[in-house]
Amino acid sequence: MAEKPWGGVFEQATDRRVEEFTESVSFDRRLYAHDIDGSVAHAQMLTKVGLLTAAECQQIEQGLREIRQEIDRGQFPFCTAREDIHMHVEASLIERIGDVGRKLHTARSRNDQVATDLRLWVRQAIDEIDARLKEVQQAFVGRCDSEIDVILPGYTHFQRAQPVLAPHYWLAYCEKFERDRLRLADCRRRANVLPLGSAALAGTSLPIDRTDVARRLGFDAVAANSIDAVSDRDFVLEFAFVLALIAEHLSTWAEEWIVWSTAEFNFLKLPQAFCTGSSIMPQKINPDVLELIRGKTARVIGNLQTLLVLIKGLPLAYNRDLQEDKPPLFDAFDTVRVSLELAAAVVAGAELNRAAIAERLDRGYLDATTLMEYLIRRGVPQRTAHGLVGRLVRKAMDLGLRLSDLPLADFQEAHPGLDAGVYQVLGPEKAVAAMLSHGSTSPDSVREQVARWKARN
Ligand code: ARG
Repeated sequence: MAEKPWGGVFEQATDRRVEEFTESVSFDRRLYAHDIDGSVAHAQMLTKVGLLTAAECQQIEQGLREIRQEIDRGQFPFCTAREDIHMHVEASLIERIGDVGRKLHTARSRNDQVATDLRLWVRQAIDEIDARLKEVQQAFVGRCDSEIDVILPGYTHFQRAQPVLAPHYWLAYCEKFERDRLRLADCRRRANVLPLGSAALAGTSLPIDRTDVARRLGFDAVAANSIDAVSDRDFVLEFAFVLALIAEHLSTWAEEWIVWSTAEFNFLKLPQAFCTGSSIMPQKINPDVLELIRGKTARVIGNLQTLLVLIKGLPLAYNRDLQEDKPPLFDAFDTVRVSLELAAAVVAGAELNRAAIAERLDRGYLDATTLMEYLIRRGVPQRTAHGLVGRLVRKAMDLGLRLSDLPLADFQEAHPGLDAGVYQVLGPEKAVAAMLSHGSTSPDSVREQVARWKARN
């Protein structure tokens, strides 16, 4: 029977099923490097304030270094009886250096320890997701120069709406991911606050220096209230929300490109290294990566839901329920990280079928709105212009023609003030070129956007 560090008051050994039920080391071992970083900073602070000698601190640091290396190499023995990563590291330290190791937990509880480890982990995870988001943005930006003159049909209600330049589309995704990055930065600020030194919940009567620990671990501030600090998992939920939103953005993109890569659309050829085949239909090249990026969004949203329900109604301060925060957090992170990595590769590797797109751009009356605006510029009230153009579209539809195929007489019949200048806004190229507003798909606006994104990344 492994001796429990908390066993002093107990008269019965722990039931084996309880050990299995309460353990977390099977998943929280992932925090080992952060746990050790936190312990080193804690020991150094204890030395500074005179609760450890310099020699004791050196022994502790040496022991922790060895433990870190053993875990790195996969040679560290984990066992359910030792509950969690914190007890594993501490027990192993005591095995190595004896009584000095028994001093490490001075002025510390696992409650402030796990909160600290998790904040260190989330901080690093945020930085990693931010870097992956930047790669996806770079993949989109990387397409823009060579596709600056490609016009795509833009959609609303998934019906053809107005023509847009392809880079305008790509940069729309960049904007979404940029907001995600801002959300991450904001979340990071609140995560980067030190709980250690809150001890179990009330603080400690020992003369510790929390600011010193914060500085050593790169925290911006020290948590102001010990009860809040050990109970707070807001930073986990905020990060999980941002991950869920990133997954939502990815799934929108994945859905779109799945559709665009069908024979029916034929806008896009996905890189074959990122497609898979069918076991029965030899001709199939399936967009499974995109489908799974879309599909895995479900579990990321589920993980956020799990966390929201987990903390509901928990009384202050630490409750063991909080141990259950890690599996959904880790899963959301792993899922989004790999999805972003694959998304960047797919974005970079896909090829637009320019010919197939151009061939069908003329369908769908994508220039109707620009024609309406042309009439507005000639003094026709918007509602009137809308009706006039609607009737012109109906006429063209009935004749199987494009708006630009209609003779001038038809336009003049619709509105006597119209002259041959009307043809200057008809057709997808001219409709795009006619755009003027800031943030529009006009070539100037798009070139300005591309330049801004290139300078940023
Ligand atoms: N494994 C626990 C967790 O992840 C560590 C804190 C346990 N504290 C306690 N007093 N039982 O939340």
